[in-house]
Amino acid sequence: MSGDARKRAEGLSYLCGFGNQHSSEAVPGALPQGRNSPQRAPLGLYAEQLSGTAFTEPRAHNRRSWLYRIRPSAAHPPFARTGNGTLRTAPFRQTVPDPNRLRWDPLPEPAAGTDFLASLWTLGGNGDVAQRTGMAVHLYHATASMERVFSDADGELLIVPEKGGLLLHTEFGQLHAEPGHVALIPRGVRFRVELLDATARGYVCENYGSPFRLPELGPIGANGLANPRDFLAPVAAYEDVEGPVEVVNKFCGNLWAATYDHSPLDVVAWHGNHVPYVYDLRRFNVMGTISYDHPDPSIFTVLTSPSDTPGLAGVDFVVFAPRWLVGEDTFRPPYFHRNVMSEYMGLIEGAYDAKAEGFVPGGGSLHNMMSAHGPDRETWERASTAELRPQKLDDGLAFMFETRWPVALTPHALRAEHLQQRYDDVWRGFERHFRPAH
Ligand SMILES: [Fe+2]
Repeated sequence: MSGDARKRAEGLSYLCGFGNQHSSEAVPGALPQGRNSPQRAPLGLYAEQLSGTAFTEPRAHNRRSWLYRIRPSAAHPPFARTGNGTLRTAPFRQTVPDPNRLRWDPLPEPAAGTDFLASLWTLGGNGDVAQRTGMAVHLYHATASMERVFSDADGELLIVPEKGGLLLHTEFGQLHAEPGHVALIPRGVRFRVELLDATARGYVCENYGSPFRLPELGPIGANGLANPRDFLAPVAAYEDVEGPVEVVNKFCGNLWAATYDHSPLDVVAWHGNHVPYVYDLRRFNVMGTISYDHPDPSIFTVLTSPSDTPGLAGVDFVVFAPRWLVGEDTFRPPYFHRNVMSEYMGLIEGAYDAKAEGFVPGGGSLHNMMSAHGPDRETWERASTAELRPQKLDDGLAFMFETRWPVALTPHALRAEHLQQRYDDVWRGFERHFRPAH
């Protein structure tokens, strides 16, 4: 953490466009032209392909990058098991899946010297990491920058900062993410997290399934929701470090560590589309009604990880960003509902329009498959009687990880002191208004 780091973070250059075939070289001439794997790569570098999808997946969804590095990734000593801390992985079978609506306050303050990786605290998830299906919800609360390097073979990491800026040093270069941004680290990409403030807190969706992509737009047309060019990829930047570097690899649910004799963030040039991104959620082009009724929240989808069933996501990442409400004769906050999908919600700043209190930045709520939820009583009273003038909702930034399967909790999430004990009370006291006869 330093002013210098923040200055560097704010001065970073980027390549723009989700899914583009980007290319970048930190040293002129480092990137081979006309082929991927010449007999000898330029400048004495080693060529290596990193595949995020099977070689043969359809061209539209295929993800791979070519990296030109000081040492091949293969040059490393054996990994040995290390402690998993509070990080857990699917299948989650240690607790009985819970039909209750649950809500947590923010994670407590961690010990000094806790880095991003050590702070990862798994709330729960679904699927099976070995089958590459499902997802996990993690929270982080770090007080120190990582000295070590991490990579996750189990899935991609969607990092949602809520407090404190992050400078992400990746194999592809550096990314700067502040609260209100999200960072996406693809499966297998090595990175370390430098803090730009004294503490950093936020959420992580670990997606074991197919890589996040932009949702189809259908009748919306060629533009709107998250626009592809607002996704920023790093330019090549490398560490030429000889000396011991601890590298931690998450593989099928466990952490494995090895001490390399060099930094693996040694990629001098690269090209491809399996790359990390940062995205500013305030760039989201919010769509909503201009007549009546509240659209289903799928209209707020930023990124989706499709399953094999058309329209059914393994997990969607959805944002509730500032927007105008203009619906006529409409209950404007999110409606009461029961959903076959399961919903984990978090709050980045301000307030969420369905909850008057108790849902706080850094906290989260879980509404599992078919659990009944919606506005709290205070919100319902207010919204049912409000004068329906055009209204700007501009004091909150909330998000949702919406997933096809129920989210089973870790034992530590179910026993946590910051699990609220009386969340159900927000729906108590709804009066009976039914009058069968006038
Ligand atoms: Fe919901």
